[in-house]
Amino acid sequence: MTDSSVRIVEVGPRDGLQNEKTIVPTATKIALIDRLSAAGHRSIEVTSFVSPKWIPQLADAAEVYLGIQKHEGIDYPVLVPNLQGYERALAAGVREVAVFTAASDAFNRKNINATVDESIERFLPILERARNDGVKVRGYVSTVLGCPYQGEVEVRDVVRIAKRIFELGCYEVSLGDTIGIGTPTKARAMLRAVADEVPMGALAVHFHDTRGQALANVFACVEDGVRVVDAAVAGLGGCPYANGATGNVASEDVVYMLHGMGYMTGIDLDALVATGQWISAELGRENGAKLGRALAPAAVRA
Ligand code: HMG
Ligand code: MG
Repeated sequence: MTDSSVRIVEVGPRDGLQNEKTIVPTATKIALIDRLSAAGHRSIEVTSFVSPKWIPQLADAAEVYLGIQKHEGIDYPVLVPNLQGYERALAAGVREVAVFTAASDAFNRKNINATVDESIERFLPILERARNDGVKVRGYVSTVLGCPYQGEVEVRDVVRIAKRIFELGCYEVSLGDTIGIGTPTKARAMLRAVADEVPMGALAVHFHDTRGQALANVFACVEDGVRVVDAAVAGLGGCPYANGATGNVASEDVVYMLHGMGYMTGIDLDALVATGQWISAELGRENGAKLGRALAPAAVRA
């Protein structure tokens, strides 16, 4: 990847659909992912192999993973919280997993019933197995700019945890503003502090748009050198264990901004906007992407 290109990690099928009130049909999930592949995404987070008691929305993880069309050159990571999830994922043929922890114990307990340290202990056997199986492992740190339970989060905690999971073998660490509480100045300061300890090339940013700051935060972080941005088509998203965590920054709006700044993403914006409009209609919800609302379907395809 050159400095003038940005990789979008499309998290809509996972971060988006985990938070829908109703259960989305498996066929709709598969169609969404196939459309995202066709739109030119290079990384699509497909689903989570978490406990179906905790996230019933993604209980069909294996069916979805087995049902999608896999393309050369596209990564299809899935979330795994423990070895049980890793084994289910491996049985479905997964080649990349994402482990997840947080910068605050309070959030982590609600989300995965473990402190940060306990969750990292759970990663160890996953990382070891993945190394032997040739499976890539991405890592998330949540609540990097604030926690819904603890409040303020110290930047030094974010740095320590990001560094630790990078050193344990996560090839990329995604820094998550789970509740969309950060502003560009704060986001940039946090990124800079982490980048002092973890190479910028191994970092990604993950902003939720709860307070309308996500696109500005992406802008600030890209200006500072990050080249991997998590985003969700139609601004789908949220975390069921973080009150007020609304959708992720919309992929359409991020791609539009990045192309306007002269970055390449490899994504066909028309196809992406059409996909966002389609999934919004399927879910019966308002399109969370500004671009998807601004452009009528006919205008997009014209
Ligand atoms: P627990 O209840 O402490 O786990 O949950 P347990 O080990 O005691 O197991 C309880 C039951 O779940 C058992 O079944 C296990 O077999 C089963 P039972 O014996 O009662 O019938 N189980 C599983 N089943 C299938 N797959 C598994 C699995 N593990 C256990 N992998 C646990 C602990 C971690 C499992 C649970 O808390 C969990 O699954 N949490 C997931 C929560 C989640 O997915 N949250 C959203 C994703 S994180 C996020 O959105 C943030 C992010 O976007 C970044 C950001 O925005 O900041 C990534
Ligand atoms: Mg998220």
